[in-house]
Amino acid sequence: MKIALVGYGKMGHMIKNCALSLGHEVVATIDVISDDADIKVSAGDGQAVARAVKSSGADGVIEFSHPTAVLGNINALLPLGIPIVVGTTGWNSKFDEVSKLASDCGGTIMTSSNFSIGVNMLYKIIEEAVKIMEPWQEYDISTWEMHHNQKADSPSGTALEIAKRILKNTNKKTEMVVDAFHEKPKPEQLHVSSTRCGAVPGTHTVFFDSPADTIEITHTARSREGFALGAVHALERLCDGLKTGRLVKGKLYGMQDLF
Ligand SMILES: NC(=O)c1ccc[n+]([C@@H]2O[C@H](COP(=O)([O-])OP(=O)(O)OC[C@H]3O[C@@H](n4cnc5c(N)ncnc54)[C@H](O)[C@@H]3O)[C@@H](O)[C@H]2O)c1
Repeated sequence: MKIALVGYGKMGHMIKNCALSLGHEVVATIDVISDDADIKVSAGDGQAVARAVKSSGADGVIEFSHPTAVLGNINALLPLGIPIVVGTTGWNSKFDEVSKLASDCGGTIMTSSNFSIGVNMLYKIIEEAVKIMEPWQEYDISTWEMHHNQKADSPSGTALEIAKRILKNTNKKTEMVVDAFHEKPKPEQLHVSSTRCGAVPGTHTVFFDSPADTIEITHTARSREGFALGAVHALERLCDGLKTGRLVKGKLYGMQDLF
C-alpha cells in the first residue's frame, strides 16, 4: 500500500517505521514545521495538504497532526475519495458534521482516540466480563489507570471509554466519579481513579471485587508504538473492507468496526 502521512511529529515518525516494517511504501510525509518532512505546508492550509496527498499517488492517508488542524485537513482530504485514518484527538463534537461530509462526498474515514489493538480488545473483553458479572450482586466494579507524570489530563480518554462501556453494560452503576471521595461511595457510583508517576506509557485496570475474591483485567502498554501499529493495521483493514464490501464508502468508522 502507498501511504501518505499528514503530521510528521512523534507519531508520524513511528507510523512511518511501522508501515515500512509491514512492507508498505510511505509516499509522502506532510507537516507544517518538521524539518525532515517531504512536504511543508502552511498551518491551516488543508487544501495544500490535499494537493500534496493527491500528487503523491497515495492509496490511503494516516493523519496524526494537531487538534487545531485536524478538521481543516479532514474537510480537504475527504473529497479525494482516498481512505483516511485519523488519530488526532479533540474533535469528537464534530463527528456528526464529518459523517455528513463523508456521506455527501463519498469519502471514507476511520478514527479512534486509541488505535492500540490491545486496548480495543480490552474494551470488548471488559464488556463481556461486565455482562457475565451482572447477575452476581456480590461483585462491585471500579477502574484505575496510571500514566507518566507529563500527561496533562486525567482520567485518560481510554479510562473514560472503559467507564462508558461499563456503564452501558450494567445496571449496578449509573454514575462515573473521577474525583476523590469525601464520603462513603454510593453503590451506584463507578469510581474511575488515576495515578501519575514517572514514565509509565499507560496502564488500565478494571477490578471486579467480591467479599471472596478479586478479578483484575489489566492492559499494560510498553510504548506508544502500539498506537502506530494499530493505525497502520486500521488503514490496511479499511482498504481491505472497502475492496471486499464489508465496509462501504461515504462513512465515518471507528476502531470498534474492526472488532
Ligand atoms: N488515536 C491514538 O491512538 C493516538 C495516539 C497517540 C497520539 N494521538 C494524537 O495524535 C496527535 C499527534 O500526536 P504526536 O504525539 O505525534 O504530536 P506531535 O506534536 O509530536 O506531532 C504533531 C505534528 O503535526 C504537525 N502539524 C500541525 N498542524 C499540521 C497541519 N495543519 N498539517 C500537517 N501537520 C501538522 C506538527 O508540526 C507536528 O510535527 C495528537 O492529537 C495526539 O493526541 C492519538
